[in-house]
Amino acid sequence: MSKILLLGSGELGKEFVIAAQRIGQTIIAVDSYENAPAMQVAHGFEVINMLDGAELDRIVAKHNPDFIVPEIEAIRTERFYDYEKQGITVVPSAKAANFTMNRKAIRDLAAKELGLKTANYRYATSAEELQKAVAEVGIPCVIKPLMSSSGKGQSTIKSQEDIIKAWNYAVEGSRGDVVEVIVEAFVKFNSEITLLTVTQNNGLPTLFCAPIGHRQERGDYQESWQPARISDKDLFEAQDMAEKVTEALGGAGIFGVEFFLADDGVYFSELSPRPHDTGMVTLAGTQNFNEFELHLRAILSLPIFEITLEKKGASAVILAAENSNHPTYAGIDTVAALPKTDFRIFGKPTSRPYRRMGVVLTSDTLDTSIEEVVERAKTAAQLVTINS
Ligand SMILES: Nc1ncnc2c1ncn2[C@@H]1O[C@H](COP(=O)(O)OP(=O)(O)O)[C@@H](O)[C@H]1O
Ligand SMILES: [Mg+2]
Repeated sequence: MSKILLLGSGELGKEFVIAAQRIGQTIIAVDSYENAPAMQVAHGFEVINMLDGAELDRIVAKHNPDFIVPEIEAIRTERFYDYEKQGITVVPSAKAANFTMNRKAIRDLAAKELGLKTANYRYATSAEELQKAVAEVGIPCVIKPLMSSSGKGQSTIKSQEDIIKAWNYAVEGSRGDVVEVIVEAFVKFNSEITLLTVTQNNGLPTLFCAPIGHRQERGDYQESWQPARISDKDLFEAQDMAEKVTEALGGAGIFGVEFFLADDGVYFSELSPRPHDTGMVTLAGTQNFNEFELHLRAILSLPIFEITLEKKGASAVILAAENSNHPTYAGIDTVAALPKTDFRIFGKPTSRPYRRMGVVLTSDTLDTSIEEVVERAKTAAQLVTINS
């Protein structure tokens, strides 16, 4: 029986805690606000600012966990190296969490050190540097703050006039003390996938889930589906890249490795060393183990013999439309009545426009067309309305 300190208590954390509860682990869930989804199912909770190193030190000392499991990026991850030295297992590793907190560390590791194919890129720390970087990378290009997630501060530059606007937008959307952006050539991809990759302890092999397709809007995914359409050649290439980058980061656990599929092959995009939001599709029972169960088993050094695709599945997000301190849900009964359809409501205490509050899950036999499964999820998600 282990004690796990979960840093970040959103919907992904909640499903992870439920998986851990099922096999008798003890969880303390942490976030910046009370009654966060994962706190509702954990043994205990802490409310702190996770970017504050002293606060992190305090709760780590207080709970003395066996494992620290980050659920988000916005954590003072520099502290993780010390926790590792103290004998606490940081999941999947202090390096993995620290490198992926900042787009620069992971991108340079992937492109320069490991030679993975990525979009051409530069960095900039001022509007002047951005001008120069854009000239080098070319238009169109995508600008992202180094420290940001969910599309915050991210924009596409389509002409010279967009450059200043893009810089100011990035400054506003940036988290952390220094403002620096990455400028990436725009990849005209045909589709994008998340390749859930599970690394294991004790010399056991790295395993891959069937690729997950997804569609992004305003920086967040709207629908995801499994399996995504991909050629064998592209899939092998993506698996090879995922194996290399996860090995370089070290540790055991699940990684969401994101790729673009373009006419000229597969591009590595980014990676999260934890369950991925698009991987919620695995809650539809598409696999023998969902992504949260896989993460947990890998962390606890429980051998995973294989990952099998059992069904086709899709997920579609349920978004709030307005601010509320008492969100209520209508249309759930209509969704419940649909065949081969399930849902999750995350139990977030407040809503705001576009906040993800739940997800609809659909599944069907492996010979069903994936488009049909996605369409059903999308249609069902639209039946739910959130009222204040
Ligand atoms: N270089 C690029 N070319 C084309 N589209 C991109 C590029 N970079 C990002 N995107 C689009 O923006 C989305 C979010 O970018 P990503 O780097 O994954 O940031 P985040 O950390 O916010 O998820 C991607 O899933 C993709 O749809
Ligand atoms: Mg992403």
